[in-house]
Amino acid sequence: MPPAHPLDAVTHPDPYPYYAALARDRPLYRDGALDLWVAAHPDSITAILRHPAARVRPLAEPVPRGLCPGPAADLFGRFVRMNDSAAHARLKALLAAFIQQQQRQGEDVHAPPAWLPAAPRDAAGIDRYLYAAPVHAQAALLGLAPSLHADCAHDIVMFLGAVHASARANTNAGARAEADAARIVAGQAAAARLQARLEAHLSGPLASPALRKLGADAAHAGIAPGMVAANLAGLLFQSCEAGAGLLGNALVMAGRRGPQAPATRRHALALIDEVLRRDPPLHNTRRFMAEPVEIDGQRIEAGQAVLLVLAAAAMAEPDAGWIFGAQRHACPGAVPARSHAADALLHVLGAGVDAAALAARFRYRPLPNARIPQFDFQEETRP
Ligand code: HEM
Repeated sequence: MPPAHPLDAVTHPDPYPYYAALARDRPLYRDGALDLWVAAHPDSITAILRHPAARVRPLAEPVPRGLCPGPAADLFGRFVRMNDSAAHARLKALLAAFIQQQQRQGEDVHAPPAWLPAAPRDAAGIDRYLYAAPVHAQAALLGLAPSLHADCAHDIVMFLGAVHASARANTNAGARAEADAARIVAGQAAAARLQARLEAHLSGPLASPALRKLGADAAHAGIAPGMVAANLAGLLFQSCEAGAGLLGNALVMAGRRGPQAPATRRHALALIDEVLRRDPPLHNTRRFMAEPVEIDGQRIEAGQAVLLVLAAAAMAEPDAGWIFGAQRHACPGAVPARSHAADALLHVLGAGVDAAALAARFRYRPLPNARIPQFDFQEETRP
């Protein structure tokens, strides 16, 4: 059975023929049941991404209500990913230049990656590793002390849990609502620690020349150190979920290939590139219209949301890098993401993890935009 709709496609076993048909036959349409416009063709997605009225957050809710007030709301609201203010463009350019510079310095060091967390032993360990490894990698790239990498990974996972819980705030009741309330409390504390840790690092003795330059350039542009530090935490945050999906889907692909699993970095990078093409970790993103707009002859009203199906655009234009977004909010982390995923994949396979066994039993986490396998779970019992 093909997916019922584009959100269902994210966790479907093989959504790619559906995505190809969507991009071809339904470039932009309204899905009344989902209460979303859906853009699937590269031209429609580009038109929306370019439109000044297309915002990354709903106008009335710049930060998820469930996080407010508190340190998690403050952190979220400062991320360049989550706002379209004038400061966004200035800080985004500085962050992109910083990532490029750090990446270049990292590549000069021909040592085995020291950032990798301990290799996992079982399915539950793999599930944790998928989320931890990308954050450890990014923390290392930021120059944070190795003793802080695990704390960063823990806090990002807590913060992410709070963001997801806040998105479910109106749909849960009873024990689930209580668990989500606890997740939000934990996420508030984690956000406060992340902000403090990265502020200390920005002005601390381990700050690299590139990081100090980022701080100085930001100060010159009138951007406060707290804002820069929040966005360093933002780099950890952005790398986490998409990185988990990239590594997880690579393990599944390696497991399905059996004996041809990659043993060298070159082969690992080739496999990661294939995953980005054939089974990507991120399938869609959203925009919210601040004013009525006319696109492809259709009128999208102010306040309406558009689902941009990047994975469908990638079927129509496989070489265009759609999985990393485009235009104003395009991802500045594609190069490190690819490199870190290859290192982590080799590490896991080298530690003797049985990828074929993992690929034989997994499900996808129930997320609306990221495709992340989960290897440790109980079969649902039917009444
Ligand atoms: C597999 C890995 C990754 C994928 C698939 C991915 C994908 C994306 C996409 C699609 C967007 C745009 C979202 C939108 O326009 O609504 C984005 C934004 C962003 N990504 Fe990534 N990303 C990945 C890894 C990373 C890493 C490792 C970093 C950090 C170095 C990073 C940093 C960012 C930032 C800061 C933004 C916001 C940019 C802005 O709003 O201007 N990403 N990413």
